[in-house]
Amino acid sequence: MLQSFSMKKTTPLIIGNWKLNPTTLEEATILATTVARKFKNSTDSLVAIAPPFPYLADAAKKIKKSSVALAAQDVFTQPLGPFTGEVSVVQLKDLEVSYVIVGHSERRAMGESDDLVRNKVQAVLKHRLTPVMCVGERVRDENGNFFSFVEEQLRSLAEVIPVTMIKKVVIAYEPIWAIGTGMSATSEDVKEMQLFIVSALTKLYDRATAEKVRLLYGGSVKASNARQLHEEGDMDGFLVGGASLKADEFIEITKLVSS
Ligand code: PGA
Repeated sequence: MLQSFSMKKTTPLIIGNWKLNPTTLEEATILATTVARKFKNSTDSLVAIAPPFPYLADAAKKIKKSSVALAAQDVFTQPLGPFTGEVSVVQLKDLEVSYVIVGHSERRAMGESDDLVRNKVQAVLKHRLTPVMCVGERVRDENGNFFSFVEEQLRSLAEVIPVTMIKKVVIAYEPIWAIGTGMSATSEDVKEMQLFIVSALTKLYDRATAEKVRLLYGGSVKASNARQLHEEGDMDGFLVGGASLKADEFIEITKLVSS
């Protein structure tokens, strides 16, 4: 068994990002119910599921008697009004959503800018939900320019989020090349980025604050790599995509990081 190098101070947070899956409410209900059953009274890890919008209300009912929390995959900046096709934080709150993923690279690829992403983070904080803001580079270059790319995403956030609020933001490092490819970052890569993000946040805020910000890793996390990524990568949890659609594997991942 791997030795633990963990410096983590928080209970790990594992969010299952279902993306545009599954195709029916029935399948979504089964998945939510199966996960909820495993977490009746668990306090070892914080577990959340992020189903597509049409399934949120049903999932909320299925997880009600468990410790599983509800997450949304995106949100709009405005609370209500003439914005066809959008979903607001107020509506998500009414469905008992706790976490909102913001700026996922699959949304940024559709045109979301750093400006829009930070406005969404602000909107989520304003209504006292927890934003999970995704950052991460498209490619890794040998000169390490990908660090400046991530730093820029954090700088943009820091321009509008004051020191008193940044602790309430979860930052998910999701290198785009590792998402859905089966090719996870190594635990060394993850540890290096964890240190980098803490130092970037230290420059933007201060050390004590930077250390309080919860950091997740996402990108091809599976049952086979979760423990090593968690122990050596030293993040505070995971954003899990593909593997969260298999209830057994998702549950296994949560066990591996909390045992
Ligand atoms: P993946 O996705 O686990 O399928 O790589 C992670 C994510 O996009 O959040």
